[in-house]
Amino acid sequence: MRRFLIAGNWKMNCGPKETSTLLQGIEEEMNTLPKEVDGLVCPPTISLTTAADELQNIDGMALGAQNMHYEDNGAFTGEVSTTMLNEVNCEYVILGHSERRQYFGETDKTVNAKVNKALNDSLKPVICVGESLEQRKADEHVLRVKKQVQGALIGVEDEDADNIVIAYEPIWAIGTGETATPDQAQEMHKMIREVLAELYTEAADSVRILYGGSMKPHNAEELLEQPDVDGGLIGGASLKADSFTKIIKIAEQLSS
Ligand code: PGA
Repeated sequence: MRRFLIAGNWKMNCGPKETSTLLQGIEEEMNTLPKEVDGLVCPPTISLTTAADELQNIDGMALGAQNMHYEDNGAFTGEVSTTMLNEVNCEYVILGHSERRQYFGETDKTVNAKVNKALNDSLKPVICVGESLEQRKADEHVLRVKKQVQGALIGVEDEDADNIVIAYEPIWAIGTGETATPDQAQEMHKMIREVLAELYTEAADSVRILYGGSMKPHNAEELLEQPDVDGGLIGGASLKADSFTKIIKIAEQLSS
């Protein structure tokens, strides 16, 4: 049985001060997460230390980064290493978000290198995949996402597969207010699970596949009740304590 994972991708929002305010707001609504649900917040790098301190007051909420480099250290101006993320208690790292692919030159190859490095260094990658509107219109969405999943997982062995999370995020639904229908999400999540089943003997059933793209309190239930949707990667709605905790409560209700 897979537990829901409700994850907040804060993107380039919330420096240390706002991070404290937002997490204190979440703590006021919910200082212990429901036992059926795992929570995760992914603030910008500069706010990770502050977030790690604040999260000591919220039971069940983990910390994640939004990116990392695949080398140990060295001359990579502006980058952050796995050792650094370990040092500030990050448990997860988002990799291959479509915004990183689109604006920062991430490719299936760099995402793959990062996934292997993260797993090697005890970080759980949240691997983002998803098609553009043009690809969906051209009926290439299944092929595109399949290729992204396969590409990200090259070299990942059975015993590590349990530590990965996949986030299906149709690009046309991110930040647009437009959401995949529950049927569209389920179709893609099921396909992704089939790809996992081709690659791994057992992990296909246990890997959590999150939906991302304008998930909000008003549409979370119909998405989360799909059999292969195991949580959400939430941008806009994770920046307000009440909408984020509302989605966590919806996941709790669906688990019981
Ligand atoms: P959104 O972002 O919820 O604002 O659409 C999701 C994401 O990009 O992870």
